[in-house]
Amino acid sequence: MERSIGVIDSGVGGLTVVNEIMRQLPNERIIYLGDTKRCPYGSREESEIKLFTYSMVKEIMTYDLKVLVIACNTATAYTLKALRKELEIPVVGVIRPGSRAAISVTETKKIGIIGTEATIKSRAYEYSLKEINKELEVQRLACPTFVPLIESGEYLKVNIIKQLEHVLKPLKENKLIDTLVLGCTHYPLIADEIAKVFDEKIHVISSSEETAREVSVILDQNNLLNKNGKSIHLFLMTGNKENFELIYENIFDTTLSDFPDVEIKQIELKEIEESYK
Ligand code: DGL
Repeated sequence: MERSIGVIDSGVGGLTVVNEIMRQLPNERIIYLGDTKRCPYGSREESEIKLFTYSMVKEIMTYDLKVLVIACNTATAYTLKALRKELEIPVVGVIRPGSRAAISVTETKKIGIIGTEATIKSRAYEYSLKEINKELEVQRLACPTFVPLIESGEYLKVNIIKQLEHVLKPLKENKLIDTLVLGCTHYPLIADEIAKVFDEKIHVISSSEETAREVSVILDQNNLLNKNGKSIHLFLMTGNKENFELIYENIFDTTLSDFPDVEIKQIELKEIEESYK
């Protein structure tokens, strides 16, 4: 069987990255793992984020992967460097691709970042952006209520604009930024509403496209592209299967029963020792 692209996230957010990988690389087989049972990671301590991410990595590495995508900004911020050293396959995060995408569109060089508490606290975006261009001005805002709103599927059922307006007020009032990075892979699911809060006057950037492009380049350069047909995608999650399927159908704009090349399975993750230290 062909080798697969592995993708992990704390929950359903990484599906926004998968969607783009499937669009850009239709011959590739995806194995996805979302730790929906323990989501959100973004309001946890660094040690727990590492422990949980490593338990996902341990599980997904039991499959024959050719590249691993950490489709979670929080996990990328705290584990990407170490994972790149430890794993024998290429590991792609979402923060650098998100930074590149923002840099490519900003005109004023004033960029806003929204993300989980842990991602914002890590300053990973700020470092990444300024490593490329020191002149950039970066404003950061943690939005801890957004992930639960999305992960529960509530965003599909109620009007969330008022809630978003309230949280995003500090960034909007400043009127400084011309570009806003969605520094959490869950946020593209409410990107239209976020753009509305800013009266659709700023660039709203998600890292998915650029991340998928990076995966494509890596596979190409290493002669790893799958040139034949692919077998069915596998989606694994640790929490409620029905909820996952509901959000999956929303993201892929499909009905699962009409989509036979996908298998969705609930699994349990084994606890691991804190061996990453
Ligand atoms: N999707 C994850 C991210 O990109 C965060 C969700 C969480 O808090 O677990 O940061």
